[in-house]
Amino acid sequence: MTEQDFTPKSYTSKVESGSVKWESPSNIALVKYWGKRESQIPENPSISFTLSNCKTITEVTYTKKEGTDFSFDVIFEGEKNAAFKPKIQTFFERVEGYLPFLRDYHFKIETSNTFPHSSGIASSASGMSALALCLMSIEEQLTKNVIQSESEEFQNFNSDFFNKKASFIARLGSGSACRSIEGELVVWGETKSISDSSDLFGVKFTENVHPNFQNYQDAILLVDKGEKQVSSTVGHKLMYGHSFASKRFEQAHENLAELKEVLTNGNQKRFIEIVESEALTLHAMMMTSIPYFILMKPNTLQIINKIWEFRQSTGSNICFTLDAGANVHVLFPEDEQKKVYEFIKSELVAYCQNGHYICDTVGKGAKKLA
Ligand code: PMV
Repeated sequence: MTEQDFTPKSYTSKVESGSVKWESPSNIALVKYWGKRESQIPENPSISFTLSNCKTITEVTYTKKEGTDFSFDVIFEGEKNAAFKPKIQTFFERVEGYLPFLRDYHFKIETSNTFPHSSGIASSASGMSALALCLMSIEEQLTKNVIQSESEEFQNFNSDFFNKKASFIARLGSGSACRSIEGELVVWGETKSISDSSDLFGVKFTENVHPNFQNYQDAILLVDKGEKQVSSTVGHKLMYGHSFASKRFEQAHENLAELKEVLTNGNQKRFIEIVESEALTLHAMMMTSIPYFILMKPNTLQIINKIWEFRQSTGSNICFTLDAGANVHVLFPEDEQKKVYEFIKSELVAYCQNGHYICDTVGKGAKKLA
């Protein structure tokens, strides 16, 4: 598919107003996306587990209006929020070619997260995917109302197209958001080992996942709840001219190809090696860019060392991964839930800010709400 496939021919809509509501989860990458070209095209492929408890719930109410400017209000957790407006304005500008109804309506965007805003957990993946899905539901209504069900355009508006375009639109809001539409594993970025992979949208990983990796658990240890020191937009840009960039992009293709095998053959040892090495490589890229920066905190390293000791002494299959921040995602198989949570409570909570952590698990993707 190309960008043109997501440009609707026309809808001379008769819909005056309506509302749509979606919940969409966050995701955690196993092979990391770091570095992008124009229009949010990734420099390397990535794969992530879709989460289930960390999510954004967004309702968009739309009303037909006069004039050609974008018009919208953002209400975050019950209160009007002007701080989000510039980001959404930029997003609307980027996607209007694909959603030409955006200038015809006033939108009230009411949104909230199930996780605390100041937790250091990025809400851009869940937030942008929830908004993209709401906009897609509006487009679906406009398409249904105008185009007879026999027409080619409406026939093409099936759930596969819906998910692909929602992911495409979400990507233009925030790259990793395109991996939050479906579950349980999603690949984004064209790569030889995944036949239908694309730079434009995320695709569901359709191989048979070995039972060892089903219902995987993710305990998110909140080490530092502060605002990110470096935004991911700035971080991605630092991969331009980075001394290790081309080797790193190549490595992501190799790791993804091997992880595909591992996820189907159940090799936990290689899973752990690939996932932890990817997390440390992401941070190594940040530490070796110009300007360089360190997002891990002393407690991030304490937790990593404790996890390694625990794995060594108990034979557990626990491992860690990191986002572009200090928090630690502790990943482990479902059947180790009891012993790992005991370990977290007795050994790791001390390194979390105010003892806070979030228990999550792999999920199936976004849901439309009534
Ligand atoms: O989606 P962005 O632009 O916020 O980038 C996120 C990048 C990482 O979270 C660090 C890695 C990833 O693949 O999710």
